[in-house]
Amino acid sequence: MAEETDSYNQIVIEHLKRPRNMGEMENPDGVGEAQNPVCGDTMRLFIKVEAGRIIDAMFLTFGCGAAIASSSITTEMIKGKTIEEALRISDLVIAEALGGLPPTKIHCSVLAEKAIHAAVLDYQKRGGG
Ligand code: FES
Repeated sequence: MAEETDSYNQIVIEHLKRPRNMGEMENPDGVGEAQNPVCGDTMRLFIKVEAGRIIDAMFLTFGCGAAIASSSITTEMIKGKTIEEALRISDLVIAEALGGLPPTKIHCSVLAEKAIHAAVLDYQKRGGG
């Protein structure tokens, strides 16, 4: 989707330029996929869990800059958190951690929140947690 990166703040631009933990994880304990029904952008989140704590996270996102920045910061935010703590991270918390998103891009962080929930669900289905 075309967009104006001028409307992004420095934190978002920094994550766009150097996305953290981008790529596919080998042997994850949970994989969650989320799609934004409006634009069709998708995010896949991989987590590794040990003793109920997320010890590693990676992402693959095909989407706008706000979605990529949200994914990037989400992997940083959930690392070291317990499953319960990770589930409490909402789209608003993610957008806030990014220093705010342009009004038309607020919905993009929802993708990351949904992906956390999907990854945890997958982890639990596999017998974890
Ligand atoms: S425009 Fe699709 S997630 Fe941002």
